[in-house]
Amino acid sequence: MVVIVKVQDNTWTEIGSFQAEDEKSLGEMAAMHWIEILQSCRAGFCWVCVCEVVDGWEAVDTDKVGNSGIDIQRDENWNPEQVLACVGGIKSEMFTDDKEHIVTLKKMY
Ligand code: FES
Repeated sequence: MVVIVKVQDNTWTEIGSFQAEDEKSLGEMAAMHWIEILQSCRAGFCWVCVCEVVDGWEAVDTDKVGNSGIDIQRDENWNPEQVLACVGGIKSEMFTDDKEHIVTLKKMY
């Protein structure tokens, strides 16, 4: 139905929010709403876009618009509550159910 994404800076201060769209990355949607999530490679290599998923992890697809450049599932430093905003997005099924979903991201950089 509706997915609202809230973005916090690294001090836990909310810096903005937006209604998510299917088929777009979290970083792309944030930029469309003038919310800065740093991005460089946009391909899952540099990790500058990494965000902690504070709430709503069940709605997050870590490989929504592409595969991350590294296998984060096997990375010993991988935290399952983090997403790379350049390739991560919202699961498609979250837009077709009858619930409102809230996802809160905390920028790491
Ligand atoms: S911008 Fe480089 S990993 Fe996301």
